Amino acid sequence: MTVRNELRLGVNVDHVATIRNARGGVHPDPVRAAQLAAAAGADGITAHLREDRRHIIDSDIERLRAEIALPLNFEMAATREMVDIALRHKPHAACIVPERREERTTEGGLDAAGQLAHLLPMVRELGSAGIRVSLFIAADRQQIDAAVALGAPVVELHTGTYCEAIEAGPEAFERERARIEDAARYGAGLGLEIHAGHGLTFDTVKPIAAIPVIRELNIGHFLIGEAVFIGLEQSIRTMRGLMDEARATADALS
Ligand code: PXP
Repeated sequence: MTVRNELRLGVNVDHVATIRNARGGVHPDPVRAAQLAAAAGADGITAHLREDRRHIIDSDIERLRAEIALPLNFEMAATREMVDIALRHKPHAACIVPERREERTTEGGLDAAGQLAHLLPMVRELGSAGIRVSLFIAADRQQIDAAVALGAPVVELHTGTYCEAIEAGPEAFERERARIEDAARYGAGLGLEIHAGHGLTFDTVKPIAAIPVIRELNIGHFLIGEAVFIGLEQSIRTMRGLMDEARATADALS
């Protein structure tokens, strides 16, 4: 019997908060979106508390912890303020991401290799509190080696460039996919748990979901945008279905 490789879906609810904050007030509520995501087959909820609180705010994190049974993946910059917030809420996981105020979204991976001394105490402190630390990095062996050196148990590979490459034609798209696969296999070989995310859509998710060593995909913007047209539940169910299809095909071929 073939044992199916588990592939979890983390639903990022940041952009429900983006819409809420456009008007102020409480609607639409990212915690309600998280409840719906759980019902639609999400395995976890991801939320990024940015330094400028442009979408998720502190009370959202508090409520996500109190009201949602799914594991919370808390995305955070490598700052003292964010480490303290993570230690207070004790999410299941903390994903350390690079953050620049002027960027629209998390544009690149964390330069873990270039800031070992800055990151090491934070990775240790979060890990000692029982929080599973993940580093959001480019699909780059040097960054993976840095994650190992830091003792982070998880890396999340940035799929933004891969997703954009779909516009550049099949060769470029395949080249970027292969880069993600190479990094994923390299990291898994070193004992890291491999996640991936950023920019994934119905059109780009399957080749990534088919990489057998990847254990989790974190997806937000597309799911929330598509929800405008087909509803959040359907948006998540369709994504989940595509992931499962890709993984089942990969399992059958292995
Ligand atoms: N993973 C990480 C670490 C991220 O920072 C983001 C964006 O907040 C995502 C996944 C989800 O990306 P997207 O919203 O483009 O699906």
